[in-house]
Amino acid sequence: MNKKIKIAVIGSGTMGNGIAHIAAQSGFKTLLVDINKAQLDNALITINSNLERMLKKNKISSIDKQNTINNITTSFNINDCKDMNLIIEAIPEKFSLKSTLFKELDSICNKETIFASNTSSISISDLGNQTNRPDKIIGMHFMNPVPVMKLVEIIKTLHTSANTVEVIKGLAIKMSKYPVECNDYPGFISNRILMPMINEAIFCLEQNVAEKESIDDIMKLGMSHPMGPLQLADFIGLDVCLDIMEVLYNGFNDSKYRPCTLLKTMVSSGLLGKKSGRGFYKYD
Ligand code: NAI
Repeated sequence: MNKKIKIAVIGSGTMGNGIAHIAAQSGFKTLLVDINKAQLDNALITINSNLERMLKKNKISSIDKQNTINNITTSFNINDCKDMNLIIEAIPEKFSLKSTLFKELDSICNKETIFASNTSSISISDLGNQTNRPDKIIGMHFMNPVPVMKLVEIIKTLHTSANTVEVIKGLAIKMSKYPVECNDYPGFISNRILMPMINEAIFCLEQNVAEKESIDDIMKLGMSHPMGPLQLADFIGLDVCLDIMEVLYNGFNDSKYRPCTLLKTMVSSGLLGKKSGRGFYKYD
């Protein structure tokens, strides 16, 4: 896949701005689409400050920074995705939102366009069923923060073509990422293992087994995790964590995946973690 390829990233939140950043930094013309102007403005500010930090650390040159910024355009209009070769969807973890978007994109985009979803857990097969191109539907699950984390989990359905997998793996490598393939199953690999651990840490806090700092310290110092599970949940977004637990719970019909009540209460109270200024910890 050459760098003439045009990529649209839909959703400019926590993940979308990072994906747009690395796509543009890798030389791809990148369209960043959102329905919310404040989010798009914030995304550009975040990309700029992340590039500035990389420049100060001599990881990129000032020309790289300028080229990256020049490669990004923004839009509120989904119809601007018409001529894109690849769509990377990064809107909230709600099947109803994603299915509506995929249907719309299917009617707008050219029939060769590949649709990749950055979903953390939603069935890629179900998303493919919303379109007339199930062979061109794939999961491209980046990790947070995207500019830093190497892994991209590549999720194949029974219908995803070998060509789609190869194109997306090649693209991930061009973005200096390390693609790892897996099959479509609730939570795939990453969140099927990670999210029940985070949920269990929240149960420990709810049941007053220990203070939040102690729970995080035990996992950091005892298990060599770079971040404790409660702090990590704050960085991911507690709403995203809850959405993923619900996908696991409903997908497996197994009570071991039931989301902790404290998690549900915090989300309904607007305590979403770093992005809302407060989760288990407070953020400026
Ligand atoms: P977010 O809530 O930070 O951002 C979502 C963005 O999508 C918002 O800016 C919103 O305005 C926009 N949006 C909503 N509906 C839209 C539409 N129809 N068209 C265009 N834009 C729309 O969400 P976040 O955390 O970036 O998550 C996005 C996806 O990435 C989810 O599927 C999530 O599960 C997944 N993900 C999240 C990770 C995390 O650490 N937050 C890690 C890996 C995947």
